[in-house]
Amino acid sequence: MPTRRKTLIGGFLASLIGFFGQAPAQDFIDMSGKTALITGSTSGLGSEIAARLGAMGATVIVHGRNEERGQEVVDAINETGPGKAVFYRADLASLAEVRALADRVRNEHGQLHLLINNAGIGGASNDPRRTSADGHELVFAVNYLSHFLLTRELLPLLDAGAPARIVNVASIGQRPLDFDDIMMANDYNQMGAYSQSKLAQIMFTMSLSEQLDTDRIIVNSLHPATFMDTPMVTEAGRRPMSTVEEGAEAVMQLAVGSAIEGRTGLYFNQLNEARANDQAYDADVRQRLWDLSVELTGGF
Ligand SMILES: NC(=O)c1ccc[n+]([C@@H]2O[C@H](COP(=O)([O-])OP(=O)(O)OC[C@H]3O[C@@H](n4cnc5c(N)ncnc54)[C@H](OP(=O)(O)O)[C@@H]3O)[C@@H](O)[C@H]2O)c1
Repeated sequence: MPTRRKTLIGGFLASLIGFFGQAPAQDFIDMSGKTALITGSTSGLGSEIAARLGAMGATVIVHGRNEERGQEVVDAINETGPGKAVFYRADLASLAEVRALADRVRNEHGQLHLLINNAGIGGASNDPRRTSADGHELVFAVNYLSHFLLTRELLPLLDAGAPARIVNVASIGQRPLDFDDIMMANDYNQMGAYSQSKLAQIMFTMSLSEQLDTDRIIVNSLHPATFMDTPMVTEAGRRPMSTVEEGAEAVMQLAVGSAIEGRTGLYFNQLNEARANDQAYDADVRQRLWDLSVELTGGF
C-alpha cells in the first residue's frame, strides 16, 4: 500500500480512537517466560508498562531510584502474576551506575527479550542547569546518554534473547542538537534541554537500527502521549491532557505488538508512524552524535 494512503488510514484510525476514547485491541506476541527491563518503572508510564508485561507472564526488571515505589510495583506484579518482577536500583545520572546496572542484568539473566528505555526527567521551565556525576548536562545525561550506554552494554544479552526489541520513549518535543554547545553551558533552558535529549534518543534509534540484524533485534522510538497524568507532568505544574493508559497502549504496540515484527528504526507519534524533526534524517549529524556519545561514555 502506498505510504501516503497508509498515513491517511492511520490518521483516520487515530481520529476514531480519539472519538471513542480507546484504541482497538492489539495483537501481541507471547511474553510468557521472557525477560523485560523497563528503565524508570517506579512511577508513571513505566510502572503501567511493567504491570502490563507482568500480566502477560514476563519476568519484569523494574528500575528506578526510589526503592519504596519500586518495591510496590514489584509486589503488585508478583501478587497478580503470572509474571514475576525484581527491582534494580540505579541512578542514570551516573555512568558508573549505568554500567553496574548492566552488569547486574547480565549476571542475573541469561537473556533479555525487551529493553524499554523509558526513564526520564522533564522539570519546570525555571529550573536551573544541573550536571550529572560525570559533569554532563543532567537532562541529556539521564534521558539520552545513560540509555545509549545501557543499550550498548546489553546488546549481547538482547542478541541472546533474539528476536528481541528495544523501545526508546522519546517525545514530540524535539529540538535540533547544537554541537557547539551540546551541554548547554552558555544558553540553558529546561524545554530546550528536554527537547534536545529526546531528539538524540530518536537519532540513536535510527543509527542503531542500521547496525543491527532486523531478524534478531528491532529498535523503535515514540512519543507516547501528550501531558499524561504522571508525576513528570503534575510536578512541573502542567495540567494533564491524556492518560497513562493511552501512552502505555502506544508503547505496548512497539514493545510487544505483532504488527511491528520486522519493522525497525522508526519513530511513532502514539500509535502512528510519524516524521521526527528534520535533523534526525541527516546521516552526518547522526554519525556526529554517535561518535560524541561513544566519546562521552568512555569509548565503549
Ligand atoms: N508524561 C508525559 O506526558 C510524557 C510525554 C512525552 C514523553 N514522555 C516520556 O515518557 C517517559 C516516562 O515519563 P513519565 O511521565 O512516566 O515520568 P515520571 O512519572 O516522572 O517517571 C519517570 C521515571 O524515570 C525514573 N528516573 C528519573 N530520573 C532518574 C534517574 N536519574 N535515574 C534512574 N531513574 C530515573 C523515575 O524513577 P525514580 O523516581 O525512582 O528515580 C521514574 O520511574 C519519559 O522518558 C518522558 O520523557 C512523557
